[in-house]
Amino acid sequence: MMTNFVHATYIVSGLLFIFALAGLSRFQTSKRGNAFGILGMALALIATVASVVSPEEGEALDTLGIILLVGAVSIGAVVGIRKALKVEMTGMPELIALLHSFVGLAAVLVGFNSYLEGSADTFHLAEVYIGIFIGAVTFTGSIVAWGKLSEKLPSRPLTLPGRHWMNLAAILLIVGMAFWFVPTRSIIPLILMTILALLLGIHLVAAIGGADMPVVISMLNSYSGWAAAFAGFMLDSSVLIVTGALVGASGAILSYIMCRAMNRSFISVILGGFGETGSTGPATDYGDYREFSTAEVAAELAEARSVIIVPGYGMAVAQAQYPVAELTKALEANGSLVRFAIHPVAGRLPGHMNVLLAEAHVSYDIVLEMDEINDDFPETDVVLVIGANDTVNPSAMEPGTPISGMPVLHAWEAKQVVVFKRSMNPGYAGVENPLFFKENTAMCFGDAKASVQAILASLPAGAETARV
Ligand code: TAP
Repeated sequence: MMTNFVHATYIVSGLLFIFALAGLSRFQTSKRGNAFGILGMALALIATVASVVSPEEGEALDTLGIILLVGAVSIGAVVGIRKALKVEMTGMPELIALLHSFVGLAAVLVGFNSYLEGSADTFHLAEVYIGIFIGAVTFTGSIVAWGKLSEKLPSRPLTLPGRHWMNLAAILLIVGMAFWFVPTRSIIPLILMTILALLLGIHLVAAIGGADMPVVISMLNSYSGWAAAFAGFMLDSSVLIVTGALVGASGAILSYIMCRAMNRSFISVILGGFGETGSTGPATDYGDYREFSTAEVAAELAEARSVIIVPGYGMAVAQAQYPVAELTKALEANGSLVRFAIHPVAGRLPGHMNVLLAEAHVSYDIVLEMDEINDDFPETDVVLVIGANDTVNPSAMEPGTPISGMPVLHAWEAKQVVVFKRSMNPGYAGVENPLFFKENTAMCFGDAKASVQAILASLPAGAETARV
């Protein structure tokens, strides 16, 4: 009876996860998608707890299991709720990387537990071996990604001599040891493989440059899904297999889409930046830059018929989306055409800018993807680059830098560009930005939120009366 209830609930959870993914694929339906996901997870949790606390007829109550379950769920809930309440939007990528590392670690522990339970079935041993391998790579790879994203580790790629040969040798050794492990069931190849996989995870992600981190995040997301699916095979848990496969497949598709958007080879990125030669190189003297006060920016905007706003990571840091939304309404009421240009890797998360703008109630219709708006810059009067840097860097169109080949927003083609940032420092990829030194560019230094608020305050009367 209980088994039937648990299986039926798992099927419903699996369906809800599919609805969640479908909902999350569009901003308009993303809230509904989230609600499906939460409901699916809650049901899966209830069914799992129910299967432990009420055994089948004839089975003894597993008291130790219940104590461990309640203990683990309570600790997890307290830590999770604290983290979720405290985390800033800009800290989400690090948190996600850390959560991926937990999935990887869990898969390694489940794998060793499953091995120690003693099954001699070849298929099961292969599951254990592959599950531990994927889990170990995900675990250490995600910790390095967390370090890079939280700037605790340098974002520049670690390029050890002969690194591709080292990766190849590690993979060959891991495959070779599988033929030692499965027939003999010896723990030695399993432990050696785990150590190698842990090192491989560190090396693969350390070799990836800052600009390619978006692909790494989605790739580790995919790995964590496959690690969970293999843990599901080992634990004979259908819901874990289904959920893991959904996460694994959607993460792989997202990685592929990101690679295409960034003009990167998928294989090259998953092999730890194979073929990368770009370096940030010595500083170049691009000449002088111009500076605008917020009053000067307001005067330019009051005259502008068309405005494109390019948001980036700095808008998230400054939490400038609210005054930016207010500025948009004021300019629209003043008769300007205002649109947003969203680069696929702007910010630190896929869809980061879209989420911030939706939070500030900016209409979806004026938020355009790079491909939809990149040809419109030459007909635009003013471009406001708000905390974006790498995504508007014309160096990407030249060879020899870590961002070379990445499509960027052609902001410099507009009549006037205003860049909002606090200093002349480079962006996440560490590449100097010649856009800042172009004749039609002016820098507006300061925290983006304070600058936009000051512009709103200095807008001439016509535009200001339109403020909401
Ligand atoms: P970035 O190149 O990261 O530049 C952000 C700029 O914001 C910085 O130059 C910084 O300059 C400025 N800034 C920071 N705080 C600010 C504040 N309070 N007020 C005003 N400006 C502020 O931004 P981007 O153009 O969005 O590019 C994203 C980069 O992150 C890409 O290299 C991308 O590959 C990488 N990345 C993306 C993701 C995803 S999935 N989107 C994940 C990981 C990495 P100052 O310090 O001078 O103010």
